[in-house]
Amino acid sequence: KRFFESGQDFKGKKVGLTIGPTQEAIDPVRFISNHSSGKMGYALAEAFLERGAEVWVVSGPISIPVAKENFHWVDVHSAQEMYLAANDIHSKMDVMVFAAAVADYAPAEVAPEKIKKQGNSLEIHLKKNVDIAQELGKQKKPNQIHVGFALETENEKEHAVDKLNRKNFDLIVLNSMKEKGAGFRLDTNRVSIFSKSGEVVESDVAPKKEIAGMILDQIKKESSWTLV
Ligand code: CTP
Ligand code: CA
Repeated sequence: KRFFESGQDFKGKKVGLTIGPTQEAIDPVRFISNHSSGKMGYALAEAFLERGAEVWVVSGPISIPVAKENFHWVDVHSAQEMYLAANDIHSKMDVMVFAAAVADYAPAEVAPEKIKKQGNSLEIHLKKNVDIAQELGKQKKPNQIHVGFALETENEKEHAVDKLNRKNFDLIVLNSMKEKGAGFRLDTNRVSIFSKSGEVVESDVAPKKEIAGMILDQIKKESSWTLV
């Protein structure tokens, strides 16, 4: 195993993750979604597993190869479904990682039949989705660790730290957009990890599996557990 020499340092811990994009139905054959591949989220799920945790995954629609049998795995489509599934497991988790790229808005109404092509323009009215991380952040238990992600195109640090506070995260992982070798669908990433205690850790461009290992190390640091 080419892993950090961390052994089974998450043994006995229960970890929940939201991963992948969400799909918000427009009609029976169409949806709104985004470019999230689920790779970073899945790399984290694997890292927790390899370091001994029991892992719950709430996954939006992804097409990367996954070994669902190793996890408590729930497939969802919409943000609302993802919220319900995450809410179901949240209270018994030691760590909750919000790695999903949740659609911020969804069609206010799902057309019951396929929308037929008509005039030269079409308007779809959207309504705001539930903020899963923020809602569950309000119910965070003492000693529970919440980890969020952020992807920004401007004022990256300010926005990331603002989200850390607003959503009651203990750590937020800022994805670098400007870096070559980082981002959607790639196997590598470059991140900055901000902790609520004010610490910032910056990674190099590295395989997502390696970035995941760094994030676990920071989770361990931020926690008050006595771990091996
Ligand atoms: N998140 C969530 N539910 C949502 C939106 C976001 O759980 N409806 C989580 C993401 O999984 C991520 C964090 O919140 O961990 C930040 O997501 P992001 O999209 O960057 O934050 P938003 O609050 O939606 O802000 P914006 O998109 O305007 O930057
Ligand atoms: Ca968003």
